[in-house]
Amino acid sequence: MSSESSSAFAPGRVNLIGEHTDYNLGLALPFAIAEGVTVRAHALEPGPSGEERVSAYAADLDERDEFPLTDVPAGEGWRAFVRGIVAELRRAGIPVIGSSLEITGSLQQGAGLSSSAALEVALALALIDLAGAGPGGRGASGAERPGASDELDRMDIARLCSRVENEWVGAQTGLLDQIASLYGAPDTALYVDFRALDVRPVPLHLEGWRLVLLHSGERHANASSGYNQRRAECARACELLGVDSLREADDAAVALLPGPERLRAQHILGENQRVREAVSALESEDLPRLGELLNASHVSLRDCFQISTPAVEAAVQSLMRAGASGARLMGGGFGGSVLGLFAPGFSPPPGTRDVRPSAGAHLLHA
Ligand code: GLA
Repeated sequence: MSSESSSAFAPGRVNLIGEHTDYNLGLALPFAIAEGVTVRAHALEPGPSGEERVSAYAADLDERDEFPLTDVPAGEGWRAFVRGIVAELRRAGIPVIGSSLEITGSLQQGAGLSSSAALEVALALALIDLAGAGPGGRGASGAERPGASDELDRMDIARLCSRVENEWVGAQTGLLDQIASLYGAPDTALYVDFRALDVRPVPLHLEGWRLVLLHSGERHANASSGYNQRRAECARACELLGVDSLREADDAAVALLPGPERLRAQHILGENQRVREAVSALESEDLPRLGELLNASHVSLRDCFQISTPAVEAAVQSLMRAGASGARLMGGGFGGSVLGLFAPGFSPPPGTRDVRPSAGAHLLHA
């Protein structure tokens, strides 16, 4: 086995506000958190017949996978992510080499904190670096960097990872989680415009306020929840309105839509506006206003987008009873964690944990 290796870390995310806006070409305000996924990749010598293989070990699950580098087969669960990333990187022109991958994580899966995106991004960064194709990549093969892969910037990597979720995992998710993981920075939220694909850092200084997460106790999974149905309903609303995305819809036309489509579109229009207002609130250090916007977002996600559950409602109520300035369901919905904002002097209830904006995905050099 070659001694050449590469390691990468990619964080999960919290979304301050702007849910289900990403695939509607709207706005969101996420940040990367400290917890994430680490992938250690080592070059593997080809087998006796010259066949190159990828072998992967998910340490937290104590499960393994192995597959040929060329003609990658589909897989289930975490294997679908690994196989998809390898296949899509190769399709994008990255000269991925036979490798042994070790995956470890500090993110609870199913908590709605984008453990999937963290896994995809960490895999992509480690494999690109091992192939010698990344910015500053060392490359186990020692080969010259190929032109095609030189052009893979962070947004290309986000798109590639999202394609893996869509085509290999079966979750029709957007780019929110991958962008948050790739562009995150300490004390910074990311104002993302999904139509322009523009990411603007917005300083997030809590000054004694606290952002906390409380798990609803319900496991969240985009592929098996109502997530894909919501996406289809938004697409149907666009068809009825004759627009390419709900970003272009206007209030008057939306008001004439039939039931579910009208409610979904109303959520998206309102949520985009709340994201703009949340950016203004942060810029003017008006955290009480941010709390109001979180509450309004929750009401819209519950009543218009209809993705809350009794367990999620109980978690939001528990934060509000403890004096939160704002609390809302977060991410795809149908379970996972809820987010709460607490002013100085208030104590979040037991079971919560603090989160703050942290560094984005990066290579780990020994
Ligand atoms: C999940 C998806 C994202 C986004 C959010 C909802 O996290 O992976 O693409 O749609 O739900 O905002």
